[in-house]
Amino acid sequence: MSLPAPNPDRTCLVTGASSGIGVEIAGLLAARGLGLTLVARTESKLRELADTLASRHGVRVEVLATDLTDAGARSGLRGRLEELGLSVNVLVNNAGFSTLGPVYRADPDREIAMVRTDVEAVVHLCVLFTPGMVERRSGSILNVASTAAFQPIPGQAGYGGSKAFVLSYSHAIREELRPHGVSVTALCPGPVETGFAEAAGIAPEEMAASMPKMFWVPAAEVARVGVDGMDDNKAVAIPGLPNKASAALGWLSPRRILLPIVAKQHPGLPDA
Ligand SMILES: NC(=O)c1ccc[n+]([C@@H]2O[C@H](COP(=O)([O-])OP(=O)(O)OC[C@H]3O[C@@H](n4cnc5c(N)ncnc54)[C@H](OP(=O)(O)O)[C@@H]3O)[C@@H](O)[C@H]2O)c1
Repeated sequence: MSLPAPNPDRTCLVTGASSGIGVEIAGLLAARGLGLTLVARTESKLRELADTLASRHGVRVEVLATDLTDAGARSGLRGRLEELGLSVNVLVNNAGFSTLGPVYRADPDREIAMVRTDVEAVVHLCVLFTPGMVERRSGSILNVASTAAFQPIPGQAGYGGSKAFVLSYSHAIREELRPHGVSVTALCPGPVETGFAEAAGIAPEEMAASMPKMFWVPAAEVARVGVDGMDDNKAVAIPGLPNKASAALGWLSPRRILLPIVAKQHPGLPDA
């Protein structure tokens, strides 16, 4: 079960393709000759990327500007693709963001928007597009989680919980879809320099100082690990050895020992 071959009636739907890791994943898929459907809210950035990839790689690219917090807009994606005569054979659920700070200072609307984007949209798009993949006995899914999935994160509780959900969900549907010729991979990056810090309201210097340099992996390399992970039918792809080690440590450490340390170092938590 490697990545499906190029086909004029099929598309790779990439969410969060207006920035960061999503731009790089879209570029790698286009370089393999695969047609793309780019999704995010910022239409101008998607159009710019679409033009670049179409002229550089000679592939078909369309832009479907969508706010993924909106269930109606998500449902509409399937109809819009049907009108274009396209079915999704590669689904990359990459759009996402984090809030920052303790639960008692959280903005309720922002927290709910995060869960809708990071969790609800992942589930919804998998539910919308897996029936076609199963029918055709062909498809690949890449769900972008995080090393935040391997342990709770005081200071980013909703984000850590959301990514733990994505990891668990990806493992489970991988098993359901495996007999039907469809692969599912969870990409779990550590820190990456993208628009992520700004969206979370962290100054880039503060974000850089929050994790030692060895954990940082460039967005292009993260994307390569994700796309190769899909191609190799891996269950989980973690970019960089230090992040693999920290994920294992986070997974195995007793919570009562680990979590006070995580909380003490977290830039989003005030001193108690
Ligand atoms: N950077 C890191 O350190 C890091 C580490 C681990 C995991 N990740 C994960 O990697 C993924 C990509 O993040 P990134 O680092 O590339 O950050 P980024 O540069 O901020 O990109 C986030 C993307 O998500 C899209 N998005 C956000 N809210 C959306 C919404 N409501 N509807 C549609 N699209 C939406 C954004 O597009 P618009 O604003 O145009 O809508 C943008 O394209 C996320 O799932 C993130 O959690 C990042």
